[in-house]
Amino acid sequence: MRVLVVGGGGREHALCWALAASPLLTKLWCVPGNPGIAELAECTPIGATDIAALVGFATDNKVDLVVAGPEAPLTLGLADACAAAGIRCFGPSAAAACLEGSKAFCKEVADAAGVPTAAWRRFEDPAAARAYVRERGAPIVVKADGLAAGKGVVVAQTLAEAEAAIADIMETRVHGEAGASVVIEECLVGEEVSFFALCDGAAALPLQAAQDHKRVGVGDTGPNTGGMGAYSPPPAFTDALRDEVMARIIRPTLDEMARRGTPFRGVLFAGLMLTGDGPKLIEFNVRFGDPECQALMLRLRSDLLPALLAACDGELARFDLRWETDHSLVVVMAAEGYPGTPRRGSEIRGLEAAAQLPRVQVFHAGTARREDGALVADGGRVLAVGATGPTLQAARDAAYAAVGRIDWPGGFCRSDIGYRALSGAAPSPAAPAAPR
Ligand code: AMP
Ligand code: GLY
Repeated sequence: MRVLVVGGGGREHALCWALAASPLLTKLWCVPGNPGIAELAECTPIGATDIAALVGFATDNKVDLVVAGPEAPLTLGLADACAAAGIRCFGPSAAAACLEGSKAFCKEVADAAGVPTAAWRRFEDPAAARAYVRERGAPIVVKADGLAAGKGVVVAQTLAEAEAAIADIMETRVHGEAGASVVIEECLVGEEVSFFALCDGAAALPLQAAQDHKRVGVGDTGPNTGGMGAYSPPPAFTDALRDEVMARIIRPTLDEMARRGTPFRGVLFAGLMLTGDGPKLIEFNVRFGDPECQALMLRLRSDLLPALLAACDGELARFDLRWETDHSLVVVMAAEGYPGTPRRGSEIRGLEAAAQLPRVQVFHAGTARREDGALVADGGRVLAVGATGPTLQAARDAAYAAVGRIDWPGGFCRSDIGYRALSGAAPSPAAPAAPR
């Protein structure tokens, strides 16, 4: 089986790591990839959104399966273009990827499918949006309707914050055309969990849940990021909750998408709030989460490749996956300046020493090789240091022991990944200082 993974972050490194272990794999490519992925796959500098070049590469190299890491190529029609070229693609069509690409579409589908979610309204007129938030009161959530690189959401604690968000998104257009309309939502309160299910258009197979840490600072403070760390499983997410989420959120959504003639294939990522009223959908994404994917791959015991093929071929109904009962935890190491403008080019040493620790896996996210071969930071989130253990505490200790071996003065991480599940857990002494 000849496989092409699209993307070049920590999520794609984890996917390549899992795929590389498959006995079915004969050749693995990743575009554009990164220096960590290059140890497992042949990397070629094609952009993840250059659909024509991606499909051309897959055709020329007789690729059997294209695996899309990020959402952008999917919303641009990668799966449709692969289908037209007769190549399997793990990931939804552009029409089905609207579940992530448009927040209003996601909410319409959720309502039509009877999925529990926050009450919402969509506005194209800022004055009407302002009148609505005044009527509803704070706290309230204001979202740019389109894709805004994970930055288009403001959980406003006051009316003034909500009105400022409407002005920024709709009038100043800080997220460009993604802010042509806004979705305004009821603010949900509870524990937030990321849940993943493989889908083949008709059937869905539950994967696992993980908890992300979106804020940059210790104790969930500071600005939002793409994710500063994750662990799996979150103790609050019981098997009974998983079954409820499959029955009330995932399967009704799949049915509704199929009814609309845009069946969903790929991985459906449900951002959930575990409220006092049961699990509610915050949003769907149409790809694995980063760094949740790293936490999941560390626990997957079955071969990933046949599962992705079953999702493409409509054969998930008869499929099962096995998982380690172990816990996994991933600490993201980011470059100084993140989530603002990260400082690029600082040298990273000690990865070999970190990787020698048992149960540790270091994934590259935003790294590059300098001309002299040195490994340097080349992005915001730079490394994802993962570990497994028989308990969450053991996984956490192992991950932070590995972080402690990484010699990178230009980077930082949160010292408290997993703290919500490990009540009373002290910040790890091995972690570098909090964000500067
Ligand atoms: P997103 O960029 O859509 O992932 O949203 C960013 C974050 O905003 C989510 O992870 C939640 O923590 C928060 N959020 C989004 N919608 C709501 C909501 N309706 N109620 C409370 N928090 C929300
Ligand atoms: N970690 C959240 C995301 O990938 O969107």
